[in-house]
Amino acid sequence: MKTLALHNLKGGVGKTAAAVNLAYLAAANDVPTLLWDLDPQGAASWYFHGEPQEQKLKSVFQGSTPVGRLVVPSPYENLKLIPADLSYRYLDILLKKVEPPREALKRLLKPFSEQFALAVLDCPPSLSHLADNIFEAADMIAVPVVPTFLSLRALEQVQAYFKQEGLDVRKLRPFYSMADRRRGLHRELIEQPPLAMARALKAVIPYASMVERMGERRAPMAAYAPSEDPALLAYAELWLEVSAALRL
Ligand SMILES: Nc1ncnc2c1ncn2[C@@H]1O[C@H](COP(=O)(O)OP(=O)(O)O)[C@@H](O)[C@H]1O
Ligand SMILES: [Mg+2]
Repeated sequence: MKTLALHNLKGGVGKTAAAVNLAYLAAANDVPTLLWDLDPQGAASWYFHGEPQEQKLKSVFQGSTPVGRLVVPSPYENLKLIPADLSYRYLDILLKKVEPPREALKRLLKPFSEQFALAVLDCPPSLSHLADNIFEAADMIAVPVVPTFLSLRALEQVQAYFKQEGLDVRKLRPFYSMADRRRGLHRELIEQPPLAMARALKAVIPYASMVERMGERRAPMAAYAPSEDPALLAYAELWLEVSAALRL
């Protein structure tokens, strides 16, 4: 099983939109997929109609509940879900009690390799202990970057953190998200990408109301957009790059 994390230090950059659409596209391409929502806000869980399961997370760490019990169905074939709830705000503390502390999440994911070929982690925006666990567990960390200087700075901060902590920088794969080519700065940064984007995935997710409407439809846009929709084509391209890099 391969593990793909959607992470960024910043919120509101399209992590959840990408996690939900990539998980959907993986499943639609016959890859048995588990989406684990690690963000206490539970947005990915909400899109996939996953009921929150208060208390269960703690009992997994206490050893009284097998981690597999956290899994619930999604409305889609080949796609299952571990929903988040507000108790996920304690995940940082729970993970710290496990030895070695950075490998707790990786170990929790291990049993899933029998049933799934891909785990997609939708991450909260932080550089916390949970993030350390995510960086350790993930084979690829896809980082949505809005083509603005502040968003690029957040990427550079994560890249610097990786170097400082001796983490594998090659795992970090940024991509442009919420890109609006009508804006001069967006266009410039896409056409002449700065150094931080050197190992970027090529797909550029456009700013599109079809993506925003996911909230109204409560579904990944890949499930309802017409096949020629530009945002859908961009997510499909992103999926092709990710699946090729992960050899799925
Ligand atoms: N490509 C896009 N175009 C337009 N709106 C988007 C796009 N991606 C995300 N959004 C919207 O922006 C908001 C934040 O997106 P989300 O994926 O939840 O970000 P994050 O998980 O990084 O916080 C949501 O309301 C979402 O619908
Ligand atoms: Mg999110």
